[in-house]
Amino acid sequence: MKQFATLLLTWYKQFGRHLPWRESRDPYRIWISEIILQQTRVEQGMAYYLRFVERFPDVSSLASASMDEVMKFWQGLGYYSRARHLYEAAHAMQGVFPRTYEGVRALSGVGDYTAAAICSFAYDMPYAVVDGNVNRVLTRFFGISTPVDSAAGKREVGQLAQTLLSKEHPADFNQAIMDFGALLCTPRQPRCEDCPLAGGCKALSEQAVESYPVKCHKTKVTDRYFYYIYVRAGVYTFINKRQSDDIWKGLYELPLVESTEPIPVEQLLSSAAFAHWIASGEQPEVRILQQGVKHQLSHRTLHATFIEVVLPEATRSFSACLKVPLAEVETYAVPRLIHAFFEKYL
Ligand code: ADE
Repeated sequence: MKQFATLLLTWYKQFGRHLPWRESRDPYRIWISEIILQQTRVEQGMAYYLRFVERFPDVSSLASASMDEVMKFWQGLGYYSRARHLYEAAHAMQGVFPRTYEGVRALSGVGDYTAAAICSFAYDMPYAVVDGNVNRVLTRFFGISTPVDSAAGKREVGQLAQTLLSKEHPADFNQAIMDFGALLCTPRQPRCEDCPLAGGCKALSEQAVESYPVKCHKTKVTDRYFYYIYVRAGVYTFINKRQSDDIWKGLYELPLVESTEPIPVEQLLSSAAFAHWIASGEQPEVRILQQGVKHQLSHRTLHATFIEVVLPEATRSFSACLKVPLAEVETYAVPRLIHAFFEKYL
């Protein structure tokens, strides 16, 4: 057991990554980095992190910004509830980052993993992190076949990680095991030939490395059909702030008809859902600009169609849409899918 931590820390000294949030002990910066890295890879998250902490260097600057601006800095990262929780937590802190594990764990958007990461990295507290990397490394090395998404599996891996954690160097141990999982003990084709732990690895001795970790639930991905209405009213278009309680809540988007089944465009144009957005009396000029644009989310495959509708410039906005000049559309935070459309058509 002791051997495990020692070998891991030795490996980390030589091969660990130098990452900007590791240069800092500022709990605020560590918090921002961990929230970004919850669902984003280091390579993609880096630029976002640097831009974010430059514009919002501390709790107060984040709390005094507008939600729309925070969203704009998050644009393209996905899982936008993270940005909403950050903002909410920044307000709740009243300028002071919590100093205790319980205080950190109580922040909006912070679960066991993130609380352990912040408290170990910023305050050197002995809390072991358990994320996907840790699950993989530990279930392989110890040959644990309890599903990691079951209550028993979470308990087993959590207790093991806590036992293994170096109490002298909790921050390094946590960073090390994450890097180890990200760089060596990868989900596919792990680099066992370079692994300092290979001698004791149960999964390797079973020649079944890729069979770990075991999971009971496979993610089920469903299809959704999105019909975006790109209004052109002279130099204006219409956008709408998404209210539905999902990953895009708070972002702006084009007026949208969503469906679980494909809808023939002819049928769409005469539907009540379309009329909800386009309430003009006469038949507007309509053109399909893009069809079958695929966008992959973790649980959904979106199939998007973009339909241009030309209306007179004086048309008033409807159904709570904002009427914005096309030249200003770029200042609003939108999902990546819409951003790509704007890049092409604006
Ligand atoms: N993923 C989540 N947190 C991380 C960190 N601190 N360093 C590298 N990858 C991470």
